[in-house]
Amino acid sequence: MSILQTSYLGLALKNPLIVGSSSLTDSVEKVKKLENAGAAAVVLKSLFEEQMLHEAQNLHHAGDYYPEAAAYLQSYVAGHSIAEYLRLISDLKQSVSIPVIASVNCMSASGWIEHALKMQQAGADAIEINIYFVAADKTRTSEKCEAIYLDIAAALKKTISIPVVFKLGNHFTNLSCMVDRLYCRGVRGVVLFNRFYEPDIDIKNMTLKSASVFSLPKDIRYSLRWVSIVSAAVEGIQISASTGIANASGVIKMLLAGAQTTQICSALYKNGTDLLKTITEEMQQWMEEHHYKSVDEFRGKLNYKNIKNPEQYERSQFMKYFSSYE
Ligand SMILES: Cc1cc2nc3c(=O)[nH]c(=O)nc-3n(C[C@H](O)[C@H](O)[C@H](O)COP(=O)(O)O)c2cc1C
Repeated sequence: MSILQTSYLGLALKNPLIVGSSSLTDSVEKVKKLENAGAAAVVLKSLFEEQMLHEAQNLHHAGDYYPEAAAYLQSYVAGHSIAEYLRLISDLKQSVSIPVIASVNCMSASGWIEHALKMQQAGADAIEINIYFVAADKTRTSEKCEAIYLDIAAALKKTISIPVVFKLGNHFTNLSCMVDRLYCRGVRGVVLFNRFYEPDIDIKNMTLKSASVFSLPKDIRYSLRWVSIVSAAVEGIQISASTGIANASGVIKMLLAGAQTTQICSALYKNGTDLLKTITEEMQQWMEEHHYKSVDEFRGKLNYKNIKNPEQYERSQFMKYFSSYE
């Protein structure tokens, strides 16, 4: 019988399937259902930095500039308090046996770090940090943008002892270097990648609108490349692959590329929680067909470790790719 067990951030997991941060994980009932369907761990919906600052009444001026945003925040805070979030963590620790990873969505190291300690005290097994800002300010250099990540990592290291994971977007000049710098500051894992809000334009009404919040299975490709590169370049960092993973083959590809675990979100919204069961069964079947007795036996088998210069490999493949079409 093939064994799907694995570990992530020092936590023992029954398989590599984690349910990603979203409203899929915002209640004890939902998480129990996910656990029964086969989820090995859950990442809770994020608590937002704005929400924490707002409750601490540190966000005085937002309304002066963005009245609509301030009104939305007001109503969001009313319905999602920090106390409720902490209660959810401790209730889950009483009700399920899978690890519970708290999540914070932030854009600075100020004003909210103490709440990470409260999440640890409530029983969170780890904390995932989703740094969400669009680097669109032409006066802020890349170095200054990256310093935000490093400052948050340093502040968390001083404050909490549970493992910290950074959920990163896919736009870095040199992702391996960035991940290495985070690792050196105590970050144990990275989620590759977060999916940012994507705008679209309604040309009939001449207005901005949101693109679909859900990913598609083809969106796996970008994460796949970087899981493969970073897992080879930064030994010791644990990677949870995310974006576009919708079936067993997506999970297997990410493990072959070097991921420790995978996170699933859109596909569960679309197909329901039973998808987890299907994926674990199909993974088991694939491992038996390939005579693997454990996930560790094939993890990273197809990552960039054996290629001296992945950049060169990428470049030659790119040339081949386009030259094959006359
Ligand atoms: C409805 C919805 C809500 C989400 N909420 C959060 C959130 O609160 N915090 C977060 O870090 N990511 C959030 N995400 C992003 C997911 O955790 C995940 O990173 C992203 O959807 C890519 O994974 P997927 O392709 O499996 O959907 C959300 C995604 C969806 C679809």
